[in-house]
Amino acid sequence: MADLHGRSVVVTGGARGIGAAVARTLVKEGAGVVIADLLAREGRETAEALGPQAVFRHLDVTDEHEWRRVLDDAEAVFGPLAVLVNNAGIVDFGGVESESPAQFRHVLNVNLVGAWLGMHLAAPRLRAAGDGVIVNVSSTAGLIGYSGISGYVASKWGLRGLTKAAALELGAAGVRVCSVHPGPIRTPMTADMDPGIAAGQPLPRFGEPEEVAAMVGFVVTEATFSTGSEFVLDGGATAGAALVVPS
Ligand SMILES: NC(=O)c1ccc[n+]([C@@H]2O[C@H](COP(=O)([O-])OP(=O)(O)OC[C@H]3O[C@@H](n4cnc5c(N)ncnc54)[C@H](O)[C@@H]3O)[C@@H](O)[C@H]2O)c1
Repeated sequence: MADLHGRSVVVTGGARGIGAAVARTLVKEGAGVVIADLLAREGRETAEALGPQAVFRHLDVTDEHEWRRVLDDAEAVFGPLAVLVNNAGIVDFGGVESESPAQFRHVLNVNLVGAWLGMHLAAPRLRAAGDGVIVNVSSTAGLIGYSGISGYVASKWGLRGLTKAAALELGAAGVRVCSVHPGPIRTPMTADMDPGIAAGQPLPRFGEPEEVAAMVGFVVTEATFSTGSEFVLDGGATAGAALVVPS
């Protein structure tokens, strides 16, 4: 996307963590950014720190009516929609046997149905604008399996597939759709996780939200020939397993 000035961007889950970093990056690119989240206090603070080019709006991504209001507001305040970043997400621990049907459905509803609703309602606006980008924040859990988070893995694989379906439908209208696949990133979501989970990676550390935001910024402004594509930043976690050769 050449120029984000005079255009609006919606970042779901933008109050904190990766979404807040994405909002900071896209404001620097000249966009007007709507930080759309359940968390009002954090969302307002994040928006205020960014100045007049950012506002907070309450959004539960599972609520179609709230989606319509947020997209209307974004265009009224900052101009035609240019970018939707479907970043809002939750993780709920539970394996195939231990996760309850209600937990499983809830994770799918937020992480997958919520993103689909955003794409469903944003796509006609981007089509009308004649260009635009949708970035879906999936995960390495959308590339490989993990035990103990069955709903999360299913939702992130679903989001990766949905990205490709939408890319096929929207390319001719000048709208690109890509997925971003972070490994473990240091945010409130992972605050209670064992830092040792990154130890086996070629780059044995957690990533930072700013590193994901830089990738999202690249997808939006630079990756102009990419659509339906997966952008991975995981410290090499999905590169494969090290072969242990006896010495
Ligand atoms: N942190 C990681 O290690 C990591 C790795 C891979 C992918 N991700 C993905 O990145 C995204 C951001 O995660 P994060 O680490 O910044 O987590 P986070 O918990 O810090 O932020 C998630 C944000 O989403 C918001 N949110 C949750 N449910 C919502 C809903 N129904 N409607 C609107 N907003 C809602 C939360 O209020 C929060 O502000 C998520 O989709 C997550 O799955 C995170």
